[in-house]
Amino acid sequence: MKRIITYGTFDLLHYGHINLLRRAKECGDYLIVALSTDEFNKLKGKKSFFDYNKRKILLEAIRYVDLVIEENSWDQKRDDVKLYKIDTLVMGDDWKGKFDNLKDIVEVKYLPRTPEVSTTQIKNELKNK
Ligand code: CTP
Repeated sequence: MKRIITYGTFDLLHYGHINLLRRAKECGDYLIVALSTDEFNKLKGKKSFFDYNKRKILLEAIRYVDLVIEENSWDQKRDDVKLYKIDTLVMGDDWKGKFDNLKDIVEVKYLPRTPEVSTTQIKNELKNK
């Protein structure tokens, strides 16, 4: 059983997110999503449209996602990898290189982002309608 983890905010769920989650799941058998809490988003300078519980419900309805846990801090990854016995940490390639320091305990993969879609872009386009 190969266990995968990925991290993110996943606000206004879009097809770029689904693509990422599908490909992350294809890297193994069991996919955990560590979902940024509203408090952690504040720390990242983000404010999501949907609050944590709503974003969690959406993610849990996706067939590729087996478990959603909280992402509360930048430095929880090492503990998560140990606690959940993770084999591979997967992120979109906007994060390329950022988590290479974990390669001593886990495989780290950066997948190409789906072009031309992001939560920020959706928000901006709706604003300008
Ligand atoms: N992602 C992706 N392709 C996209 C958008 C996001 O592969 N077009 C991936 C990111 O690389 C990340 C995960 O989906 O691994 C969650 O990203 P998140 O930051 O929540 O989504 P964005 O749409 O990038 O949101 P924002 O515009 O707020 O940064």
